[in-house]
Amino acid sequence: MKHHVDKLQRLRQEALQGGGERRVQKQHARGKWTARERLDYLLDAGSFQELGMFVKHQVTDFGMAEKRIAGDAVVTGFGTIDGREVAVFAQDFTVLGGTFSEMHARKIAYLQDLALEAGAPLIGLMDSGGARIQEGIRGLAGYGSMFTRNVLASGVIPQISVMMGPTAGGSVYAPALTDFVIMVRNTSYMFLTGPEVVRAVTGEEVSTEELGGAMTHNAHSGVAHFLAEDEANALDMVKLLLSYLPQNNTEDPRRAVSTDPPDRREESLLNIVPPAEDQSYDVKQVIQAVVDMGSFLEVQPYFARNAVVGFARMAGHVVGVVANQPAFLAGVLDINSSDKIAHFVRVCDAFNIPLITFVDTPGFLPGVDQEHYGVIRHGAKIIYAYVEATVPKISVVLRKAMGGAYIAMSSKAMRSDLAFAWPTAQIAVMGAEGAVRILHRKDLAKAEDPAALEAQFVQKYRETFFNPYVAAELGYIDDIIDPRDTRPRLIRALAFLRTKVQQNPPKKHGLMPV
Ligand code: HXC
Repeated sequence: MKHHVDKLQRLRQEALQGGGERRVQKQHARGKWTARERLDYLLDAGSFQELGMFVKHQVTDFGMAEKRIAGDAVVTGFGTIDGREVAVFAQDFTVLGGTFSEMHARKIAYLQDLALEAGAPLIGLMDSGGARIQEGIRGLAGYGSMFTRNVLASGVIPQISVMMGPTAGGSVYAPALTDFVIMVRNTSYMFLTGPEVVRAVTGEEVSTEELGGAMTHNAHSGVAHFLAEDEANALDMVKLLLSYLPQNNTEDPRRAVSTDPPDRREESLLNIVPPAEDQSYDVKQVIQAVVDMGSFLEVQPYFARNAVVGFARMAGHVVGVVANQPAFLAGVLDINSSDKIAHFVRVCDAFNIPLITFVDTPGFLPGVDQEHYGVIRHGAKIIYAYVEATVPKISVVLRKAMGGAYIAMSSKAMRSDLAFAWPTAQIAVMGAEGAVRILHRKDLAKAEDPAALEAQFVQKYRETFFNPYVAAELGYIDDIIDPRDTRPRLIRALAFLRTKVQQNPPKKHGLMPV
């Protein structure tokens, strides 16, 4: 028996070395950890149960027969984070560049199956040179099997990808199919084709960082949801993000202990929205004043900043918050903010997280580019996502709610459960000046003093439409509330709606505009 156990120990020891001391040092010199160091940091101490440590690559061509590839360049298994079960894989860049092969794929696919069956979140720590060239079709097919499971698990278990090194080619699609992508600044990048191919095909000169670095995907493409300063920061983000998510779509997120009184009236809310309607303010101040103190976790803070989305807690219960951001492009809705909002609403709906929407938007952004690049198609996603969502939905109109943007932002006619408004709300088809020019074009054309007459019409339009009372008279707003009462009113409403049951008509799937 002893020699069997000794052999096992020796083989384990070998696997634990990864790609060997030299490559580990190279990894460290870049500010990167090894796959196992990352798992140690992420998981509760001693909780990791590794699977497939002895899996071996099967390809023998191109000098591969004699290569030792520990665990086939990926460490897979399950463990706990804050006592909750998670399935996790970590690609090991020190082992043949963490490259993706047939057996590497099989390990990940099996873990994906287990995670789905157990109803546990799946976390992928990505650090890979992409498809292992020597494996040809085997690795490519492996990607297909991974993507398949990403899609089948979508909306059933939370899937989080942490980009901790390179990702090129088709392998960017696995993270893109997951719910959240976290990228580490300076050491991670994602692109379909690298700078050299770009130069050869289009003649454009671009650096790796500019083409697919962490900030590029956080601020411009919207592929990433969080930017981490370093590896520890990225793994801390995983833990924090998980605390807002349930294990799977049959559960609610865990309730946290809240020391913030549910009946807290917030005086500061009287002073955040400025008196002049064209003045901006930071809607995050409203969110932070309303939710449990310090509980707001913004998602995609650098992308489409004219909208704000994120998780928070109200009396300890997790909520999803969506808001227009008047501090950025006056809070207009455009192509990117539509995508950002629609994705977030769908995540919340999939994982039983009630939605609170704060509205202050002058409408959809006019412009040739917006129209030509499909603001109609993208804007439709917000409508689709809100209507389809069956979780409790409450909106609060803070100030402007104009035209199509009023309807899209969780309006009552679109299956929102409750709609509140502050007394400062302006719910109208369009802005005053534009409306007057359309309604009174002829009067203005023949007026002696068109400017004075226009001012009169504008004043009248404002008095008639720029308030929440018409909407409240018609029942489109359920109550006009004192801004200071926003938190207690929302918490009461959420408590009432907690047992909400609503279903969509049976169908194979809807045809969300994409
Ligand atoms: C086989 C690879 C490899 C690959 C890296 N290695 N990429 N082996 N197939 N795709 C090996 C290297 O030979 C080296 O082995 C080790 O991994 C580390 O790589 P280095 O080049 O030394 O590291 P570094 O200088 O940090 O550069 C990392 C890199 C570079 C930028 C990722 O290796 C690179 O550009 N690799 C190719 C990336 C790529 O184009 N992949 C294919 C994408 S297409 P030793 O033994 O020396 O340590 C794709 C299709 C997917 O993925 C389709 C899915 C549908």
